[in-house]
Parts: sequence; C-alpha cells; structure tokens
Amino acid sequence: MKNIVLIGFMGTGKTSIGRRLAQRLGRAFIDTDAEIEAVTGKTISQLFARFGMIRFRSEEELLVKKLAGREDLVISTGGGTVLNPENVRLLKENGVLITLTASPEVLYSRLANKKTRPLISRGDLKQKIEDLLEERKGVYDVTDYFVDTGVFSIDGVVEQILLYLSGREDMK
Ligand code: S3P
Repeated sequence: MKNIVLIGFMGTGKTSIGRRLAQRLGRAFIDTDAEIEAVTGKTISQLFARFGMIRFRSEEELLVKKLAGREDLVISTGGGTVLNPENVRLLKENGVLITLTASPEVLYSRLANKKTRPLISRGDLKQKIEDLLEERKGVYDVTDYFVDTGVFSIDGVVEQILLYLSGREDMK
C-alpha cells in the first residue's frame, strides 16, 4: 500500500506522531533526519556546519528517491524536505501526504531550548520562526490532509489521521 508521509514545519510533531502512527498501523517507520544521520554518520548540525545546507539537501533528495520506491512505510520528513518540488513529486507518486500544523506560539514553546536544528539555533527564536513561516508560506499546502497538532494530544492526532485514511479507497 501507499506510504503515509508526514510533512510540516519544525516542531509540528512529525517524528513523535509518525512513530505512533506506524505502531498503530503495524508499519515500518522512517524519519528522514534520523536516516540521514545514520547514513552519513553525522548529526544534522554537523552536516550543516561542516558541509553546508546544500549538502544536507542533497542527502535528503537522495533518500527521498530511495524511499519513494518503497511501500507500506510511515515517513516523517524534515521541515524543509518539501521545499524541493522534485521531492514532492516523488513522495506523492506513491504516498498520501499529511501536513501537521501548529500556531507560531505552540511552535515556539516546543522549539525553545532545543539545539539540534541549525536553521533556528541562532538569534531570536520567535522572529526566526515567524520569518521562516512567512518564507515558506504555501509550501506545506501540497497535501492531502491537514491536522493542527496544537489542539490534540499525540494520540488524538493519530486518531484524526486514521479516520481520514479509513475514508480513502486506496488505503483499505
Ligand atoms: C529543517 C528541519 C529539520 C531538519 C533540518 C532542516 C528545515 O527537521 O531537517 O534541520 O529546513 O525545516 P524537523 O522538521 O524534523 O525539525
């Protein structure tokens, strides 16, 4: 069956929700950031610092190409994966895309004091989040379904997604 692909801004809960969703469905779970770290033997921060964002994006693209050829996965993407239209095309080819959202306030509270995200690790976090959200306006709209993760628990979000999937003929 088609992959289920979670997309959305940093801090929307893609990894924790993806993991739980995969458990519920008995599917394999892949988090693209974790996979890139495993493949390269470097953390995302190290990749950005030593080789730059372009290198990270090309690792991401390579991985998406590989994953798009597989089935039955739950995939949590990085917040920037869908900036690349080719990634979107590949992920959509064999996947249902689900966008997780959250308000800037919720994102701020989740992302504060986390040091693992190079794009927001320096400067004023609130401002950074606002600027990036503005810069990425519309980017996460390439989707089949939206869930606001600020108003439900992890299990609540998973239930919403399961309900949506149960209404799709291609997911039965
Ligand atoms: C990024 C999001 C991060 C990670 C990298 C770049 C982005 O993933 O891929 O730091 O461009 O939004 P999460 O969304 O899992 O934090």
